Amino acid sequence: MKQQIENIKQEFAQELQNATSVANLQELRVKYVGKSGVVTGLLRQIKDVAPQDRASVGNMINDLRKGVEVQLAETEEKFAQVELENKLKAEQIDISLLNGQQWGTRHPIDKVKDEIIDLFKGIGFEVCEGPELETDYYNFQALNIPLEHPSRDMQDTFYINDNILLRTQTSAMQARLMEKKGPPIKMLCPGKVFRADSDASHSPVFHQIEGLVVDTDITLRDLKGTLEYVAQRLFDEQTQVRFRPSYFPFTEPSVEVDLTCCNCHGKGCSLCKGTGWIEVLGAGMVNPFVLENCGIDSNKYTGYAFGFGIERMAMIKYGIPDIRLFFENDIRFLKQFKK
Ligand code: PHE
Repeated sequence: MKQQIENIKQEFAQELQNATSVANLQELRVKYVGKSGVVTGLLRQIKDVAPQDRASVGNMINDLRKGVEVQLAETEEKFAQVELENKLKAEQIDISLLNGQQWGTRHPIDKVKDEIIDLFKGIGFEVCEGPELETDYYNFQALNIPLEHPSRDMQDTFYINDNILLRTQTSAMQARLMEKKGPPIKMLCPGKVFRADSDASHSPVFHQIEGLVVDTDITLRDLKGTLEYVAQRLFDEQTQVRFRPSYFPFTEPSVEVDLTCCNCHGKGCSLCKGTGWIEVLGAGMVNPFVLENCGIDSNKYTGYAFGFGIERMAMIKYGIPDIRLFFENDIRFLKQFKK
């Protein structure tokens, strides 16, 4: 029996040496010290051993079991360590790769919008936003554009149904503000607007900023001074503002506003098509009909309104030739506005 135990010890040592994984060790554990393993088998045989030898044989079997368990545990720890190292090596992340990652930047439209808003805020304008889904009433009728009025053709409208549309102009906010707030009003309303139009200078969705001032004694000169102040800070100190007569149903008189070309400073270049001036926005004195529609006494109050496209401002400021670049999200284009 003693010889048998000795043999098993060696057999185990040999098998342990051949083991290459934690799974192999588990098999050995079951085989030698498991419930119906080799050691249990030996213990069963004790009854056949001569009584005087039972104690020493029993001790040998116990030593064998302890030895097997200790060696298995030690080897297992070694294997686990190696397996962990291999796993870590295999799953290693090369953090130097992150250097090639493209980080996002603020969109140029967002930057120009905030720059313009800050300038107006500096001279007392409040900022608010309105709904993009608008009623026909606020987008058109309240602005002195009745149903069937030919001026509706100036803007190609996306209708949701007879009454609801995607607003074509932030001017839709004018009547909402006048109705809700009443004078004095000095507000700026930035937001998305929508028109069925698409080419190098028109996008079906673009951004506008509306300005509305209603108070006593407001004149066209207030409008001109305000626009000049902002334009000179947005472009450069030499920028001049020019009004040309125009037509909008909701302003009377209406003007088209030009700025001296920020590229050639009025000499004439390709940006201003040789004229020295760039058309940037529509504006005018709030039509008394609109004031009265919104419950404001047009004998007591006057107001001015203006509206312009943020994309157009950004195109002029940065010399961008095609409005579609703003919406393509090409990283090479966006990257240029990092600073
Ligand atoms: N809403 C006009 C447009 O989109 C611009 C405008 C705004 C004109 C305010 C006059 C007054 O073309």
